[in-house]
Parts: sequence; structure tokens; C-alpha cells
Amino acid sequence: MADIRDTIRRRRSIRHYLSQPVPEGVLGAVVKAGEESVALAPKIAVRFHLFTDGKVVAERMTLLTGGRWLFGSAPHFIVATSEEKPHFMVNMGFRMEQLVLYATEQGLGTCWIGGMFAEERIGELVGLKPGERVIALTPLGYPDTSFYGRFARNIIEVGARDFGRRKPLSEIAYGKVWGEPLGTQDEVLLEALDCARLAPSWANTQPWRFLAAESDVVALADAAGRYASVRQGKHYYRLDVGIAMCHFYLAAREMGWKGRWQIEGFDAGEIARERRIPQGFETIGIYRK
Ligand SMILES: Cc1cc2nc3c(=O)[nH]c(=O)nc-3n(C[C@H](O)[C@H](O)[C@H](O)COP(=O)(O)O)c2cc1C
Repeated sequence: MADIRDTIRRRRSIRHYLSQPVPEGVLGAVVKAGEESVALAPKIAVRFHLFTDGKVVAERMTLLTGGRWLFGSAPHFIVATSEEKPHFMVNMGFRMEQLVLYATEQGLGTCWIGGMFAEERIGELVGLKPGERVIALTPLGYPDTSFYGRFARNIIEVGARDFGRRKPLSEIAYGKVWGEPLGTQDEVLLEALDCARLAPSWANTQPWRFLAAESDVVALADAAGRYASVRQGKHYYRLDVGIAMCHFYLAAREMGWKGRWQIEGFDAGEIARERRIPQGFETIGIYRK
């Protein structure tokens, strides 16, 4: 991917689209970007279902929350499904964001959708297998950049936390221990954390926190905040942290770091004690440089 950090900074949730269809080859390449994405939990099967006729999906979104009204303009949709296994939400956040960034790079608009649909109705459409869950949808098409298009985008952001703006790095990233200032001069680390900071999240809740030590970075999720979003056993705040981890990973990789996120095989209790992590925060992963 060419200049991923630039793509991360350009991406916005798009909520109104031009009717012009996207060429089939490009649509196929977007789906492939998801299918071939780097996984955090490679054993969990995920599927990305492309709907070339977006109306089929939009019509099944909920009327009351505005899903149909907002996204009826999308020429295409992708529905993301996953096996329900430990770490499935963080894995999907990490994987689908690679698809989203690829689409952004192609000049396409997307919008992560975790609410505004009933799982049964969309599940019927994709033919869910036993043990498989519908995690998220995204419309896909060329963004409508007219006044109306921008209005449709912004009307939702008004209801989102901080009006869609992001918290400063000082509020989401600490040094090795919780509450200790970040204090690093490492430009790669600072840039990768800044890219993580810009990740999209459920109602812009930004539930991620990072503890950056010399040789590792710990990713945490605010599981107790009043915005913690859990729907039918699906912990969307974990998915959000997966998206931020994806931004961190791709940005660091582009700048030459070879590290990876580990999401199991560590003692979360011990980390919480050592790093003085307050109650209500979950340790999601450790990036080892
Ligand atoms: C997991 C997840 C679920 C989301 N669900 C919805 C949704 O149901 N409807 C919607 O309009 N936006 C949804 N969003 C988009 C967020 O509101 C948006 O990312 C956030 O407000 C920041 O704006 P930005 O993406 O333009 O930077 C969701 C985002 C994420 C990551």
C-alpha cells in the first residue's frame, strides 16, 4: 500500500454516495484486500460478502435509526462475518480496517456500521453458517462531496463523542506504567501512535489506550466507560481497539518496524499489576518491536 499514513489521515466515514457504480475489478480487489489481510487470529474464519446492488442491504437496515435513509444511496455494500471464537472482535477490527484503507486508497468511501441493523435480517441475506456472526457492514462507492453529502456525514458526527474529533495523544498513550507521561522521542513510535489515535470507533468513543515501554507497546480497551458498546455478545469496543492496532501496525511497518501484535500467550493479570492498569481496562494485545 502506498503511503498508508496518508491514507489513514484521509479516511472519513462517508454517509452519502454518488449513484455511479464502481468498476467490477475494483470491487473484487477491495474484497481481496479483506480476504488477504493480515490476521491477529489466523485460525478464525472470516468472510467479506460483496453486494453489488447496495439497495438489497440498505433495505434490510433499521428504519428508526436512520440506516435506510442514510445509506440508501450506497451503490454497493460489503457485509463482514466471522466465526464466534475468542478474539473474534479484535481480529475483525484489525482485518476489515485493511479492506477499508485499501478502498480509501482507491478513492472510495466507506463507513463502518455496527449498529443500525438487526443481525437476523442481514444474516439471512448472507446465509450465516452455524457459529458465524454478522459483525459489521460498510457501504462502498464514490463519496458525494456536495453540500448534502457533507451534511449527511456530519449530522451523525454531531451525535458522536467529541463531535468526531480525536483525543490528544497525551490522553490515550502513557509510558511503561499507567499515568506516567509518554515521554518518548522515538519518531516512529510517536507517528505510529498518532495513526492509532486517528482510528474510527463506535460513536467515536476511542476506547483504546496504549502503554509504551522500551521494547513493547501494550494495547488496552476501556471496557467500563459509559460508552462501552456490547451488542448480543459482540464487544464492539474490542473491535475498535483492533482497528487502532491495525493503524499502529501498518504505520510502524511502513516506517520499517518488523514487530507484530500478540493477542494471547501473556498473563493479563500480571501485566495489569506491573503496569498499574486501573480496573475496567482490558489488555488486548502486546506489540513487540
Ligand atoms: C465499530 C464501529 C461501528 C460504527 N457504527 C456506525 C453506525 O452504526 N452508524 C454510523 O453512521 N456510523 C458508525 N460508525 C462510524 C463512527 O461513527 C465514526 O467512525 C466516528 O464517528 C469517527 O468519524 P470518522 O470515521 O469520520 O473519522 C462506526 C464505527 C465503528 C468503528
